[in-house]
Amino acid sequence: MFSLSLGESLELRLPHENDAQELFKLTDRNREYLKRWLPWLDLTKDAESSRGFIKQSLKRFADNNGFDALIVLERKIIGVAGFHQIDWSHKRTEIGYWLDELYQGRGIMTRAVNALMTYGFEELKLNAIRIRCATGNAASRAIPERLGFAHEGTARQWECLYGVYHDSEGYSMLASEWKERYGQKQRKSLSSNSSKKRKVSTGKIATGKVPRSRAAGK
Ligand SMILES: CC(C)(COP(=O)(O)OP(=O)(O)OC[C@H]1O[C@@H](n2cnc3c(N)ncnc32)[C@H](O)[C@@H]1OP(=O)(O)O)[C@@H](O)C(=O)NCCC(=O)NCCS
Repeated sequence: MFSLSLGESLELRLPHENDAQELFKLTDRNREYLKRWLPWLDLTKDAESSRGFIKQSLKRFADNNGFDALIVLERKIIGVAGFHQIDWSHKRTEIGYWLDELYQGRGIMTRAVNALMTYGFEELKLNAIRIRCATGNAASRAIPERLGFAHEGTARQWECLYGVYHDSEGYSMLASEWKERYGQKQRKSLSSNSSKKRKVSTGKIATGKVPRSRAAGK
């Protein structure tokens, strides 16, 4: 089973069909909060919708065409992050993500994106990874900005969310920039995990906050 360790009982792992019910409950509980910035909530009506999403993700993984992984804290699903389709002719992809509202602001998504970047550049040998965020989505924009992505510019009215158009900010990181910024640290981390196939420890990122097991009433 594909997984990336994020440390502190936190991991990114591929979903399986048995996760559909739990993933749907999480989505449903966060529906209004996620609707602020994500366009697909009206399509997620029941556990069957979540099962369809999981099947699609597993197929994309099997086809070597990206994947959506679950963010799991102490065996509990708290979010999703992954690569949209991979364009292998240009060796590029985009990252997408969302998190349970209760777990926001602890650096969890920054860690998850950091792990995906390491995997994308070090294992998949991609050349460019992009993140797009609606201009007003400050919490999402803070992630690529914090990880040192270049701001590429604003695409006007790029996203239509429930009938309203929003401008969108593009951020990207190139493999050469990633190596220069994080290379030594990531290579050390990868070699210490080389015996675990496809398991990448990202270590602690400098500004990352540690998720607490007692968070959110746990
Ligand atoms: C965007 C999202 C994934 C962030 O997850 P997270 O785990 O809370 O993110 P992190 O804690 O790693 O980092 C968030 C950063 O945004 C900052 N932030 C949070 N809310 C903010 C706000 N309203 N204004 C400005 N910055 C904000 C945090 O302070 C933090 O930066 P810092 O640590 O440098 O201070 C989460 O808020 C979410 O799921 N939102 C709804 C779905 C969504 O927008 N998905 C992305 C679509 S592009």
